[in-house]
Amino acid sequence: MTTDELRHQLEFYRDLGFKDLYRRSPLTLQPQSEMPPLKIPVELPGLMPENDTLDKICSDIGDCQRCRLGATRNKIVFGVGDPKAKIVFVGEGPGAEEDAQGFPFVGRAGQLLTQMIEGTSSKEGIPIKREDVYICNVVKCRPPENRTPEADEMETCGQFLFRQISVIQPKAICALGSTAAKALLGGKDGVTKLRGTWHKWQQLPLMVTFHPSYLLRPYNQNAKREAWEDLKKLLHFVYD
Ligand code: URA
Repeated sequence: MTTDELRHQLEFYRDLGFKDLYRRSPLTLQPQSEMPPLKIPVELPGLMPENDTLDKICSDIGDCQRCRLGATRNKIVFGVGDPKAKIVFVGEGPGAEEDAQGFPFVGRAGQLLTQMIEGTSSKEGIPIKREDVYICNVVKCRPPENRTPEADEMETCGQFLFRQISVIQPKAICALGSTAAKALLGGKDGVTKLRGTWHKWQQLPLMVTFHPSYLLRPYNQNAKREAWEDLKKLLHFVYD
């Protein structure tokens, strides 16, 4: 690779929103002409930068304007819970209440999520509370009118979600709804197809279940029952 090509590549990463580039291994640039070999340490972005932490991810997000959601949000909603949690729950994106408070799942869907976690675990004899898990979203800024995040928004913000999960290294991930499932698993399948069985995100077991907002709709009794089954499976896998 010539230095010009290298410069273009680095500019490309910068345009994607990478502020810091991390070295995997020194790269030896092959001389184009008679010039002596040029050995420079090139820092390429790893999926998980060395010694990454949640604080570092949060400060890398900064006052983010990498995508259009930055223009309309109030607060960035990074994530909340135990940084050593055994389960990470991933939702879609902040709603109005979350955007105002800066914390995920604090509105009506959040109350239901808390009930699902605490109700199921107490029934199953597993003593965990909401604060024992980690909760975050695919996108950290509220999409206007609570619309589904666009693919490019999910891709831009996804790097931070992946780093969060990589730092926490939970025993399992729970994707809440189709958007989270697609962000983590790729593919086009929705929650009805994916729920209830184990999948993997980078070697970590991943369960897909219904998003609490969907369960709040009155005609979804079957889905509610299925979501409780999924949670039971998840909790027993992680805590038994
Ligand atoms: N819905 C989500 O997906 N995330 C939240 O934080 C709140 C509602």
